[in-house]
Amino acid sequence: AEGDAAKGERVFKKCQACHAVGEGAENKTGPVLNGLIGRTAGTLEGYDYSPAMKAFGEGGKTWTVEELDAFLTNPRQHVEGTKMSFAGLRKEQERENVIAYLGTFTQ
Ligand code: HEM
Repeated sequence: AEGDAAKGERVFKKCQACHAVGEGAENKTGPVLNGLIGRTAGTLEGYDYSPAMKAFGEGGKTWTVEELDAFLTNPRQHVEGTKMSFAGLRKEQERENVIAYLGTFTQ
């Protein structure tokens, strides 16, 4: 199913304590999520990733829609050792919507 970016903007409130997106966004506890779709995991310049997230990207993982869906379902299970301390989004529709929202910040 297709995500709804407008609804995803509301879901993103769950991410905002740690992530910024959009014009003028800066790294917080977590990296800026502009240009995320298609980016190799753990590679945003100027952000200090965990060794686990760096290794995940070095292993060839990029943030496709499918990869994001799996990660956001259970971050610490999908990338063992990640420092993203977030339980995840259990509802598929919420994941699809927030991924669609993030997609609006990828050129
Ligand atoms: C990393 C998405 C919630 C903290 C990431 C990455 C993504 C992501 C895609 C990897 C980025 C990259 O490789 O450049 C999201 C989304 C969230 C969310 C969509 C909400 C649904 C949170 C929350 C926190 C957080 C609430 C803080 C409590 C972090 C941290 C990292 C990270 C610290 C770096 C992980 C590492 O280096 O191991 N997030 N996140 N995130 N996020 Fe989140």
